[in-house]
Amino acid sequence: MSSVLFTPISLGPVTLSNRIAIAPMCQYSADDGSATDWHLQQVMNYAMSGAGLVVLEASGVERHGRISHGCLGLYSDANEAALARVLAAARRVAIPGTRFGIQLAHAGRKASTQLPWEGGGPLGPQEDPWPIVAPSAIPFAPNYATPAALTDDGMARIRLAFVRAAQRAARLGFDVIELHSTHGYLLDTFISPIANQRTDSYGGSLVNRMRFPLSVAKAVRAALPAHMAMGARITGTDWTETGWSPDDAAVYASALKDLGATYVSVSTGGVLPRQNIPGGLSYQVPPATVVKTKSGIVTAAAGHIVDAQQAEDLVASGKLDMVMLARAFLDNPRWAWHAADRLGAKIDYPPQYARVAAAVWKVAADARPLDFPKP
Ligand SMILES: Cc1cc2nc3c(=O)[nH]c(=O)nc-3n(C[C@H](O)[C@H](O)[C@H](O)COP(=O)(O)O)c2cc1C
Repeated sequence: MSSVLFTPISLGPVTLSNRIAIAPMCQYSADDGSATDWHLQQVMNYAMSGAGLVVLEASGVERHGRISHGCLGLYSDANEAALARVLAAARRVAIPGTRFGIQLAHAGRKASTQLPWEGGGPLGPQEDPWPIVAPSAIPFAPNYATPAALTDDGMARIRLAFVRAAQRAARLGFDVIELHSTHGYLLDTFISPIANQRTDSYGGSLVNRMRFPLSVAKAVRAALPAHMAMGARITGTDWTETGWSPDDAAVYASALKDLGATYVSVSTGGVLPRQNIPGGLSYQVPPATVVKTKSGIVTAAAGHIVDAQQAEDLVASGKLDMVMLARAFLDNPRWAWHAADRLGAKIDYPPQYARVAAAVWKVAADARPLDFPKP
């Protein structure tokens, strides 16, 4: 059996050994933006996961751009040093060829919130909250603070913060930069007509709403060395009639491609607090396929992709170029080893684990057969 999932794919200057990526996942475990031992253990595990690309969690490009006090950042020398320790250790144990990316983010009007396990709502007056910004002075939800509408100076400051964070990531030796432009965070609120009600050249038409995010992408690409790839996580749909659509996302993806982005990862939602999201296996693939077909950029998607055959079918059918998995790897950082075994592909997992395969995997698979419906 030959697997398409386990064939290489090129993101411009960076080639991945397979089409499996670990999607970024906030761990809310940083110290003033700096990675801790939690990140060390997790990224080391992901380094051995067999995924072709490991994308580290949303990392604030400025202190006030973090979602919570526990979010990773890349805005200070201390952040850079802490991440250097994590990445160096991860590279020492990584399966050869594993590529590392980092998602650069600004949380915009959804910044200054509690850790999820402390409620996840906006920080109260006793919790060291900070002022938040957005394209327009419209709060995310009634209980959220009203953001300040960004001025030209504010936009210039944040664009520069993205560039400086990207330069830090380049110094650290990351292979890929992923711009966070979905889930209702700052760049996404510019492109979504729901959150962007500006009347200047950054609001109104689709071209105007894309202007600030594209200016960030252009500046970041210009600041990166040629051997690094830049991609973006974008919104495929806002899941509302009045919001952003897959066709809009394809226009945005094409514009990003023209600026040198070499992949997009399509996600959905997050710009409104209550949304009717259908969910289900592969639920974000349909808008991603529209983006892939119309823009021609390498396209990935996440969202309830959990099973090896499901992932294989998505890439073999051409619906996606690669898959992004989040919770499946959070649950089982060896997901790709099992997928390779199941699909008859070879993966160079560490020899220290070689005796596990025959003794455990087959027995476990027989005991608990996975029977997922076709996507
Ligand atoms: C704990 C956790 C943290 C997440 N953090 C991020 C993040 O930092 N950036 C991002 O773009 N998406 C984030 N997501 C969304 C995931 O990347 C992914 O899109 C989502 O979980 C759906 O994929 P899945 O079904 O494979 O988990 C997070 C999800 C989880 C579960």
